[in-house]
Amino acid sequence: MARQLTFRIFRYDPSDPGSKPGFVDYKLEETPRLNLFVALHRIREQQAPDLQFDFVCRAGVCGSCGMMINGRPTLGCRTLTAELPTTITLAPMPAFKLIGDLSVDTGTWFRGMSERVESWIHTQKKFDPTAEEERMDNETAEKIYELDRCIECGCCVAGCGTANIREDFLGATALNRIGRFMLDPRDERDSEDWFELVSTDEGVFGCMGLMGCDDVCPKELPLLEVFAYMRRRMTEVARGKAKPDAGTCLPVIN
Ligand code: SF4
Ligand code: FES
Repeated sequence: MARQLTFRIFRYDPSDPGSKPGFVDYKLEETPRLNLFVALHRIREQQAPDLQFDFVCRAGVCGSCGMMINGRPTLGCRTLTAELPTTITLAPMPAFKLIGDLSVDTGTWFRGMSERVESWIHTQKKFDPTAEEERMDNETAEKIYELDRCIECGCCVAGCGTANIREDFLGATALNRIGRFMLDPRDERDSEDWFELVSTDEGVFGCMGLMGCDDVCPKELPLLEVFAYMRRRMTEVARGKAKPDAGTCLPVIN
């Protein structure tokens, strides 16, 4: 017999002065292979036409469907109801601006993060649109790709105790992004530039080691290894013993 599911969903529209935050229950009969993407669309079609939530790809690629599922930041499209108890509590991810109900504005946060860590190749070389694409050896390209798999879902930010209480903390996804550019031989930033960026309380030394980011990252990025590498190298730089090398990096991919 099919299970009767109760979806306890946070409802609030900050743009409506009459809206009051609270949870509302919706009942749905479970069907085979039901995931939260389908379940929320059914609820919206049949019971709550104004329910706000985000999904785009339905395949764990676009990163838009992060939400708190029974208290844990997770991708809704990759979550089967069969993995959950019959009461499923859904809430928007903290640390991001609430748009309404389950929908949060991760885009503005990620754009701000990209600007803050200057998430682009820094080079003095003049761009020549007619030149052949610069070649990179496979090993380096694979190392970069490993960190480039971040889908900007925001789950690591929502799952991080420090990021939730300190807006100035860079957080796992930003540190991972910096690690990605440290690996890239085309990026000409030197040890002082990297030191400036990550060797602060807002950077890698602000992490309390709670490991929430690593627990919840749906792409299983090697976040803790990125932090450990950065801490070690930055400490060495501060002591004047070594310089971070932009070409060789993180132990996970060495
Ligand atoms: Fe999402 Fe993982 Fe990227 Fe964080 S590091 S934004 S959890 S994919
Ligand atoms: Fe794209 Fe879930 S809908 S990651």
